[in-house]
Amino acid sequence: MSETEGQINVSGDATGAGLHVMGEGVDLSHGPILYLDDITVSFDGFKALNKLTLTVEAGELRCVIGPNGAGKTTMMDVITGKTRPDLGTAFFGQTIDLTRLTEPQIAHQGIGRKFQKPTVFENHSVFENLELAMKTDKTVWASMRAKRSSEQLDRIAQTLELIELHGEADRQAGLLSHGQKQWLEIGMLLMQEPRLLLLDEPVAGMTDEETERTAELFKSLAGEHSVVVVEHDMEFIESIANVVTVLHEGSVLAEGTMDMVQNDERVIEVYLGR
Ligand SMILES: Nc1ncnc2c1ncn2[C@@H]1O[C@H](COP(=O)(O)OP(=O)(O)OP(=O)(O)O)[C@@H](O)[C@H]1O
Ligand SMILES: [Mg+2]
Repeated sequence: MSETEGQINVSGDATGAGLHVMGEGVDLSHGPILYLDDITVSFDGFKALNKLTLTVEAGELRCVIGPNGAGKTTMMDVITGKTRPDLGTAFFGQTIDLTRLTEPQIAHQGIGRKFQKPTVFENHSVFENLELAMKTDKTVWASMRAKRSSEQLDRIAQTLELIELHGEADRQAGLLSHGQKQWLEIGMLLMQEPRLLLLDEPVAGMTDEETERTAELFKSLAGEHSVVVVEHDMEFIESIANVVTVLHEGSVLAEGTMDMVQNDERVIEVYLGR
């Protein structure tokens, strides 16, 4: 055990939670990072999810498509603990039962989520936004500040490169373009070192160039991170897709390569059109 770890335990963090690097406790020894089985969510008798079964492997970049109301966002709500399923199983790795955890606990376990609307701190600089995103545990930070500061700066610098905002570090976030704000928010998520990233309609409202750069960003995130992307922009999906899952009426209608789902009669019928 390092000196730092000892110091934290002495300070009374018996659970070690403050020390826990997010996602470190995910057991991927045999099997997927995300396992949903027979998930049903009803709203006043209407089944937004109807026996949804879906598995995402570690390091995968999974695309989820489907018509409005198919249950894509509801699926993310279930994974992040915002909505409790009526029935079904949801596991993060082998051991973490998502249906038993609260939203903050799930976030702490290493699942990061991006909603459609960017929620950056408009009055702070790009750099400060990333810095703020990192400080999730004030007490531990206080005790680790001296040690962490250079490490912290490195991570912020790396993230700025990744999200292509290295030239904008001192710029007020409110002055960024819509696309840049989206990237900044993804950067803020990454500062929390999630294992699984859920991104709901990330390129909505972006210019074509921003959309293309986002595709590159997502492709570079896969491998180290597992990513689930929901999008209606089919050109974007095509540019990043490996496995595509098509949801319809709360269940998986089809799953496979872009080519497979694009040529699936049922998918054409309910979503892609002729
Ligand atoms: N809190 C809620 N109360 C009642 N109905 C809801 C609630 N949340 C979602 N629904 C309904 O569940 C269905 C699935 O909604 P959801 O938002 O998951 O669809 P989606 O696939 O994300 O659609 P979109 O592509 O339009 O974002 C919709 O019919 C929606 O109206
Ligand atoms: Mg949605």
